[in-house]
Amino acid sequence: MKKIAILASGNGSNAEEIIKHFNGSDLAQIICIASNKKDAYVLERAKNHNIPSFSFTKSEMEAGILEKTFEEMEVDFVVLAGFLLKIPDGLIHNFPDRMINIHPALLPKHGGKGMYGMRVHEAVKENGDKETGITIHFVNEKYDDGRVIFQKAVAVEESDSPEDIANKVHALEYKYFPKVIESLL
Ligand code: GRF
Repeated sequence: MKKIAILASGNGSNAEEIIKHFNGSDLAQIICIASNKKDAYVLERAKNHNIPSFSFTKSEMEAGILEKTFEEMEVDFVVLAGFLLKIPDGLIHNFPDRMINIHPALLPKHGGKGMYGMRVHEAVKENGDKETGITIHFVNEKYDDGRVIFQKAVAVEESDSPEDIANKVHALEYKYFPKVIESLL
């Protein structure tokens, strides 16, 4: 049984889809959800599903709390689902090809520091892009830069608002992210 840890900073709708996907699985279980925001809704979701969770500060992260905790918990695989801080090098080294992120656009477009949430969908709209999508990639030392594992595109209509675009992208995330995780385990 593989042990998965999820890192998330906000709402956690992707985290919840992943939890549901592996509920009752004999392949993997979500053993913890950790957030850098102590009031993130994802922690509420974790509680509702009886999944151990904790929050930490940026300086605790930089001092190695995740490396230490994940080692103690014997985590096999780390999933970033809307996690906004840069991952410390130590954690990257501990999880070579075993830590992935989802980005709500077709990287290398609309990625990098500060490109998250609605900012990404607004940029797609402003740019007049005819399509957007999701990118699932390994995590390396830079934002949104690691080797791409999976991408899926969806058409953007001229009449789509950034909110419409966000809804289309979320639908792709929920459909594919849990399956891609499973395929990597
Ligand atoms: C998702 O769109 C994901 O691609 C991005 O952050 C968003 C998180 O949404 N990295 P949620 O917290 O899973 O609802």
